[in-house]
Amino acid sequence: MTRAQRKRDHINYALSTGQQDKAGFEDIKFVHQSLPNTALGETGLQSRIGELSLSSPIFVNAMTGGGGEYTSKINGDLSLLAKETGIALAVGSQMSALKSPDERRTYEIVRKNNPEGIIFANLGSEATVQQANEAVEMVKADALQIHLNVIQELTMPEGDRDFRGALERIGEISERLRVPVIVKETGFGISKEAARALSETSVSAIDVGGYGGTNFSKIENQRRQRMLDFFDDWGIPTAVSIVEAYSASDLPIMASGGIRNSLEIVKALSLGACSVGMAGAILRSIVDKGLTDTIEEVNEIHTDIRYLMCALGCEKIEDLHDVPMIISGQVHHWMKVRGLE
Ligand code: FNR
Repeated sequence: MTRAQRKRDHINYALSTGQQDKAGFEDIKFVHQSLPNTALGETGLQSRIGELSLSSPIFVNAMTGGGGEYTSKINGDLSLLAKETGIALAVGSQMSALKSPDERRTYEIVRKNNPEGIIFANLGSEATVQQANEAVEMVKADALQIHLNVIQELTMPEGDRDFRGALERIGEISERLRVPVIVKETGFGISKEAARALSETSVSAIDVGGYGGTNFSKIENQRRQRMLDFFDDWGIPTAVSIVEAYSASDLPIMASGGIRNSLEIVKALSLGACSVGMAGAILRSIVDKGLTDTIEEVNEIHTDIRYLMCALGCEKIEDLHDVPMIISGQVHHWMKVRGLE
């Protein structure tokens, strides 16, 4: 199977799996406030991820790049979406472009289309410092995402089987790179133990990439003869993972994994996240509805976040960290068992 075919398969299976999984946000309820003392016009969406300043708390998380025309077209659309709506964009893993320079243009187009935007480069934890520098240079990135994807690799027939030394490599890259390093999961969540270990390195932020959305076990199992389907419901739901990581680390915590709408975005921010990533939901919209409607949808999400902030008495994104909420069900149980209350 060629790399282009594999990337196409990933997109198609991402669109057809994982939508029934729960990221935990149904267990979070806000306490209504009748005297919020705010005005819609005073609410603002400016956000920060450590030293990075952003005009929106949402970003498009890493998906495509490399491959054939199909993925190239999607990457082009995602970069135009980011430009039109002012949101940051992470490119998909650039390892293939580091190995096959003819794939570089499918990544470079993202910077070409959006010269002023915030762009994250992306590599796996097997990368070297030199590869990290090249990936950043390729898209003139403002930060580098390093993804952790043990379960995907194990379920991928041609995947890695040796995960030793990842933390040390991440530590070295984050010390030596000139841009911030964001470590992200890819749909299985970051535990408090992993967050604590990462915060002892020079990493700048953690994206919890929790369970409840795109499910790489389900995706890869579609491509296997003998399924490893015990991994299909493996992982820390995103709402739980935000609390796990936030409790264990002073680093900025970013939230992603199964986030589909403005209410879930605001809940993720209120649990402690500084920024919220969406991958599958944006991909679905681009493929099913096209670029123009997706731009409209993201603009509506921005408006709706401001309505929710107004109702909750918050003018700034960081004010959301202090709003009262009730946590029930599985998320509450998990917090109790893990000592996160
Ligand atoms: C991804 N994701 C991903 N992540 C990463 O760090 N590098 C990558 O190359 C990719 N590739 C990729 C392809 C496709 C088609 C999808 C849908 C996703 C994972 C992505 O960034 C995110 O962590 C997960 O998809 C969980 O978020 P959602 O999709 O539930 O919002």
